[in-house]
Amino acid sequence: THVVADSCVRCRYTDCVDVCPVDCFREGPNFLVIDPDECIDCAVCVAECPAAAIFAEEDLPADQQEYIQINAELAQVWPSITKTKSPLPDADEWKDVPNKLQYLER
Ligand code: F3S
Repeated sequence: THVVADSCVRCRYTDCVDVCPVDCFREGPNFLVIDPDECIDCAVCVAECPAAAIFAEEDLPADQQEYIQINAELAQVWPSITKTKSPLPDADEWKDVPNKLQYLER
């Protein structure tokens, strides 16, 4: 599966959503996740993300492994998003800030 990781937090650009052939993105207040049961590993979304937040699970950086569980958990409770929308207002300011897990709203 693919995983949405730290760079998405407080950005939520949503460019990834439009290209997903299986509509596997789920939307929270300031972050998206990929439903691991739906993702077909096409990898098309990876290049679309302005924050480079999406990784194949095996390529996920060592310090972001917890996002595997976060994607799996939140995909169970968050609603589907299938159309790109406006990023969060401060997305460009937060894009390159590391370690944003503390800001993830559930
Ligand atoms: Fe997040 Fe990147 Fe999509 S910031 S919403 S994974 S385009």
